[in-house]
Amino acid sequence: MLSWDEYNTDEALDAIKAKPQTPPSQNEAPAAQAEPAPAAPKHAVQEPVTAYADTTPATPAAAAPAEAIGDEVIADESLQARAERALAELDVATGLEELEMGAARIEVDDKRVINCRADVNQLVPFKYDWAWQKYLDGCANHWMPQEVNMSADISMWKNPEGLTEDERRIVMRSLGYFSTADSLVANNLVLAVYRHITNPECRQYLLRQSFEEAIHTHAYQYCVESLGMDEGEVFNMYRELPSIAKKAAWSLKHTSSLSDPTFQTGTPDKDQELLRNLIGFYCVTEGIFFYCGFTQILSMGRRNKMTGVAEQFQYILRDESMHLNFGIDLINQIKLENPHLWTPQFQQEVAQMIVEGTQLEIEYARDSMPRGVLGMNAGMMEQYLHFIANRRLVQIGLKEQFPGAQNPFPWMSEIMDLRKEKNFFETRVIEYQTGGALSWE
Ligand SMILES: [Fe+2]
Ligand SMILES: [Fe+2]
Repeated sequence: MLSWDEYNTDEALDAIKAKPQTPPSQNEAPAAQAEPAPAAPKHAVQEPVTAYADTTPATPAAAAPAEAIGDEVIADESLQARAERALAELDVATGLEELEMGAARIEVDDKRVINCRADVNQLVPFKYDWAWQKYLDGCANHWMPQEVNMSADISMWKNPEGLTEDERRIVMRSLGYFSTADSLVANNLVLAVYRHITNPECRQYLLRQSFEEAIHTHAYQYCVESLGMDEGEVFNMYRELPSIAKKAAWSLKHTSSLSDPTFQTGTPDKDQELLRNLIGFYCVTEGIFFYCGFTQILSMGRRNKMTGVAEQFQYILRDESMHLNFGIDLINQIKLENPHLWTPQFQQEVAQMIVEGTQLEIEYARDSMPRGVLGMNAGMMEQYLHFIANRRLVQIGLKEQFPGAQNPFPWMSEIMDLRKEKNFFETRVIEYQTGGALSWE
């Protein structure tokens, strides 16, 4: 078995790291001094900075124009130093402070996504309505893995003629990657990110997301159990199979410094580290690493194969596309409130992170799909991942790194919006939001 060091000295990874880091062209423009972030009107609900549904194509009008990116950057050294000093003096709220009797009531203008001193135990008044709305939408989409009928999958999986070897490989690889990936995401939220987000409505969504990640891990366990798979083989795959291990190691690398109990935001370096984590998890782990497996399994479902597994993945994809959209809004809100963090150098680094993650997912596509299968092949998946990576870059205000990449799987965007295809697998959606009442008898 390979050691971690051997995984990480892989030629492909080295090639990515050695690639000259050409700054995106928009970064070559001289950085203008940024205006301070406009304050929200008192007591007004703030509109989302970006609300890009992943099902709609990115449009230049919706996204920050690439040429304007440098405008947000504070180039003036004295301003940078002042921002650094002011943030360092902040006493950041965690919610665990001793009660301050008689302290003033919370006002909207007191609230900030990071480095906020206002009491984070008081949910209202709302400032970030987009975060609260996503919490409500997440709750309205509630589902549980046991509600999906797996009987057709069980007979197909157990029938030696039911699936080809290449199709079986896709099912095993997908369950192998995802069965631990959602735990990595949940651990990152709970152990690394949560305490540094100093806004209660954003925290409320993080709590909902954390529970959804638990449901996803449950769904993979339920598939493994239903199909009678070797659970050790599936759940340990991230420590046995290089193409999966590399993705997991990449994610873990971006959680390590924040999970250090001594880590504190409040200086530009530390705040950039938080942004690196958010971009690494929302844009790359959930925004790129999930997409080869999702596409493969959903393509299988479209061909009437492993429809129970595919239905589980469809529900998960719907949740994940909301996680991604929340993450994009969160990242852009932090950028808006802290423009000094978004330096040309940092933008270049972040773009490189997304390119690096895309390369790892392409390697995974080649490993899980050595030949054409289910109407797709690794070359088409590479195109798709370039298309997805461009979207992630544009969503956080960066320039596309794969110009002209087209989407070879347009049906994927339709599947993400389950409301359009409620009877996709001829099963019903459980309407939790309208059903169920407690009985007190
Ligand atoms: Fe998940
Ligand atoms: Fe997620």
